[in-house]
Amino acid sequence: MTANKHFLQFKDFTRDEFDYLFERTRWIKDKYKRYEPYHPLFDRTLVMIFEKASTRTRLSFEAGMHQLGGSAIYLNTRDSQLGRGEPVEDAAQVISRMSDVVMIRTFEQDIIERFAANSRVPVINGLTNEYHPCQILADIFTFIEHRGSIQGKTVAWVGDSNNLCNTWLQAAEVLDFNVHVSTPPGYEVEPERAGLYGTDHFEQFADPLEACKGAHLVTTDVWTSMGFEAENEERMKAFADWCVDAEMMSVAAPDAVFMHCLPAHRGEEVTAEVIDGPQSVVWDEAENRLHVQKALMEYLVLGRVEAK
Ligand code: CP
Ligand code: NVA
Repeated sequence: MTANKHFLQFKDFTRDEFDYLFERTRWIKDKYKRYEPYHPLFDRTLVMIFEKASTRTRLSFEAGMHQLGGSAIYLNTRDSQLGRGEPVEDAAQVISRMSDVVMIRTFEQDIIERFAANSRVPVINGLTNEYHPCQILADIFTFIEHRGSIQGKTVAWVGDSNNLCNTWLQAAEVLDFNVHVSTPPGYEVEPERAGLYGTDHFEQFADPLEACKGAHLVTTDVWTSMGFEAENEERMKAFADWCVDAEMMSVAAPDAVFMHCLPAHRGEEVTAEVIDGPQSVVWDEAENRLHVQKALMEYLVLGRVEAK
């Protein structure tokens, strides 16, 4: 079996590869906006496996593959043998013989690692309990579009040290920026689980207002991620003071942007005033999932292509 390139966590790619992907995304997005067809993945097949719910991830991968000239097949746990105990290694052998690229949304990172180890084709992480690299790829592209390079900038993360937070922390190491994290006590970042090399690119703050001071980007996510629903009641109490509001935005840099991967719960992790306010770029952020993932699939299937 030839060695494949996968995107299972943010640090799987180098800074140089991200620079290429951001440039490529710009080109692909511009062409799409001009209604110019671009079919580099003609006749190729993407298989999407969902073990958790999704709106954006399914839509952006499926639409993206069609726009690149290929087709996409949706599988979920309920309607496939995956939900009836077929070993993930066997599923990987079979699925990867009938497709050119696979995207998986699942629970533990170990599941996607085992799939990738047995896959003949590139595998993309569409969210695990530990990471959501495609989302941060879109978020950083969105930041670059609005404010330029993220290098040396400060991102404030307010809330749960979840899959998104872990991925921001890895991205900070790869792309050389800083993350100010504020979580309630008991929900702090675990550097080992986040897959970090060190602690140089992040700082933890007890007070979310302190974390937001001077930040160029303020971001948050749901208090209870998929798979952790049993903890919901406990989390609602613990996270009550970790709601991004106008006061937090007022201490950030004057041109700070607000991001949220969506879906959002107004009145919990963010106020309606902030997410629907002038500093929010959440709709661009959601749209950019489409464009960055088209560049990602093109790169994983074809390698670097000449700028055209
Ligand atoms: N942000 C994100 O991944 O959204 P979905 O859960 O709708 O895919
Ligand atoms: N942290 C959230 C993100 C949803 C897109 C979750 O894992 O449910």
